[in-house]
Parts: sequence; C-alpha cells; structure tokens
Amino acid sequence: MDKIRVGIVGFGFMGHEHLAMLSRLDGYEVVGIYDIDPKQMEEVPEGLKRYASADELFADPDVDVALIVANNNQHHDLVVKAARAGKDIICEKPIAMNLEELDDMVKVVGECGVKFTIHHQRRFDPDFRTMKNVYDQGLLGDVYTVKSSLYGFNGNMHDWHVYISEGGGMLFDWGVHLIDQMLWMMKGAKVKSVFADIRNVINFEVDDYFKILLRFDNGITGEIELGTYFLTDKISEKWFERHWIMGGNKGTAYSDGFDPEGKVVRTSHLLKNVRGTRTMTAAGPTRSFGPPAEGTILTEELPKADTKHEDYFENYYKAYHGEEEFLVKIPETRRVLALMEAARESAKTGQSVAFE
Ligand SMILES: NC(=O)c1ccc[n+]([C@@H]2O[C@H](COP(=O)([O-])OP(=O)(O)OC[C@H]3O[C@@H](n4cnc5c(N)ncnc54)[C@H](O)[C@@H]3O)[C@@H](O)[C@H]2O)c1
Repeated sequence: MDKIRVGIVGFGFMGHEHLAMLSRLDGYEVVGIYDIDPKQMEEVPEGLKRYASADELFADPDVDVALIVANNNQHHDLVVKAARAGKDIICEKPIAMNLEELDDMVKVVGECGVKFTIHHQRRFDPDFRTMKNVYDQGLLGDVYTVKSSLYGFNGNMHDWHVYISEGGGMLFDWGVHLIDQMLWMMKGAKVKSVFADIRNVINFEVDDYFKILLRFDNGITGEIELGTYFLTDKISEKWFERHWIMGGNKGTAYSDGFDPEGKVVRTSHLLKNVRGTRTMTAAGPTRSFGPPAEGTILTEELPKADTKHEDYFENYYKAYHGEEEFLVKIPETRRVLALMEAARESAKTGQSVAFE
C-alpha cells in the first residue's frame, strides 16, 4: 500500500514528536511543515518542504493528510481550511475549544467529504489498556468503582497552557485524555450525571486541579482526579504519580505508573459478618480496618497490555486504506468535549449535572 504523505501544521513540542514518530513508521512520509513562528521554521530538517503559509501546505498536491498540531485555539480554523482544500485531517486533542466550534468543523468536513479524526493516542497507554483488559475480561465480578488519577509534584504549567484564550488548563490538556479513556472503557454505558470540582490552585486563569465523578447507567462511578501542584520533598524519587484502582464484588485491581505495576487481588474468604477483632492503630483501636485473616488474600498478575503510541498510527494507516475503522470517532470526541463542558458547569454551580 502507498505511504501516507503528511504535512505538519505547528512545529512546537508535539509537532517535533510527530515528525520523530512518523519518520520511524514505514507507512508514512512527512512531506513538509508549516509553523506560524519563523523561529520554529528554522528547526525544520533539511529535505522537508518549508511552507510559507498553512494555505500553501493545504494546496500542495503532495500532501494527503494535514496533521494539525498548532495551539488549541487554532484547531477550528486550520481544520476548516484544510477540509476546504480537500485534505484528509488528523487534529490534535482537544478537538476544539467548544461544541460550537466542533459542530462547525464537522459540518465543513462533512460537506468536503474528507477523512477526519483526532490524535487520542492515549487509548494505547499500557496502564490504561491493562485496566481495560481487567474490565473487559470481567475479572472483578460486578465493578462498582473505577478511579483514574494523575498527580504532578512541584508541577510545571508552562507556555500557552496558562492562558484561557489559548485553550490552556489541565482539563483541556490531560483531562481530555483521562475522560476519553474512562468513556472508552465503559463503552455502551451512558453517563447519567457529572459532578466536578475544578480549581485554579495557583494559576490566575486556568485550572490546575480537578476531580470529576461520573455516574454511569451500568452502576459504576468513575472518578478522575488530577493535580499539578501537589508538592513533595522526595524529588529524586517522584515527579508524578499515575494510579488506577478498580473495585468489584469479586476482587480489586490496582495499577501504579504508566508502565503498570499492580495486581488483581482476591480473597478466598469474604468476611461477611464475623466477630470483630480489635486492631490497634496510632489513632486508636479499630475493628473494621484490621488485617485480613492469614492466607485469605490471593493475588494474580495484571493482564498487562503491550500497547504503544505507534499503534495509533498503525490503526490510522489501515483505516486510511479501508482495512479497518478509525479507532477514534468524531462523535466520541464530541462526547468528551460535552462532558468537559458539563464538568465546568458543575464546578461553577456546585451541583451535579444531568448528562445523558
Ligand atoms: N496528544 C498528546 O499527547 C499531546 C501532547 C502535547 C500537545 N498536544 C497538542 O498539540 C497541540 C500543540 O501543543 P504543543 O505542546 O506542541 O504546543 P507548542 O506551543 O509547543 O507548539 C505549538 C506550535 O504551533 C504553532 N502555531 C500556532 N498557531 C499556528 C498557526 N495558525 N499555524 C501554524 N502554526 C501555528 C506555534 O508557533 C507553535 O510552534 C495542542 O493542541 C496540544 O493540546 C497533544
């Protein structure tokens, strides 16, 4: 099959990452690059076309796919222009700044009949896919809670990420991934309600902490928590923490880190109603939180997933040539954006918001 010829629009941090990744993959050729900032254009490697404008890139017949990697507030206009020029499009997340922008993009893309998808490569994060395996394989019986958390220590909100007009804030930056993962894991389930606490802990304009509770119609409560500015004195050991915990009536699964370390934990003997045993803690005696009876805790390895971000482009390549579906569908990304808007509303009012 032919190589997919890509033009990259936006050559900052992620534009460089895309160039490096696509250069490693057989099915792709990066033809050229455009960045609005001349300083960034100086970094375009020899041998690639350096376009003078986005329009010039979109007009180039050598480009099959426009990869939009500019700031979030540029996605709408660039996607619309690329579609009108007849280019197929991959756009970075978040798809748009709001639903109005997104609906306009979808309308134009539909009129132009081009292929359009979003770079949600974190559907291939191994920690997420491992926990999705636990869920899909029904290893825990009836699941009632799934918590996904990411904590940054001595955090670093940088560049455009601190400006609201540029689509900054951690909900847009990482929330979009964490919500997308949770919704994709719970495929088929509706979100009945959303409750969120979203804070600007130290930033003036944008959020740097959020906790979101999603009540699904399958009985599960999904919890997503992220904080950028927790502090730690153990800098050499930890600069972030990534955790999952999933609870069901037949077991619990936990995972720590992006390269998941964890276990599926079960018990040979559920202590439904037993005589209370006194356990002493520094905060006084307890009967509810004592150690388990000897030999009753059983562990199994997590069903680890061997996925990587390249897999996103492997799927794109096959889907582009009609061999499978694009993994990331635009209505799914619309749902994530709508959910972020519901979360913002909940945070503002302090009330939960009915969703689906
Ligand atoms: N999927 C991921 O994991 C991931 C990770 C990082 C960033 N991103 C996304 O990638 C996009 C870029 O983020 P970044 O961190 O690389 O930002 P960045 O600031 O490092 O780079 C953005 C670049 O886009 C250029 N630009 C701005 N407007 C432009 C325009 N109209 N035309 C051409 N170039 C333009 C800027 O000059 C800059 O060089 C954002 O949408 C961000 O959310 C995704």
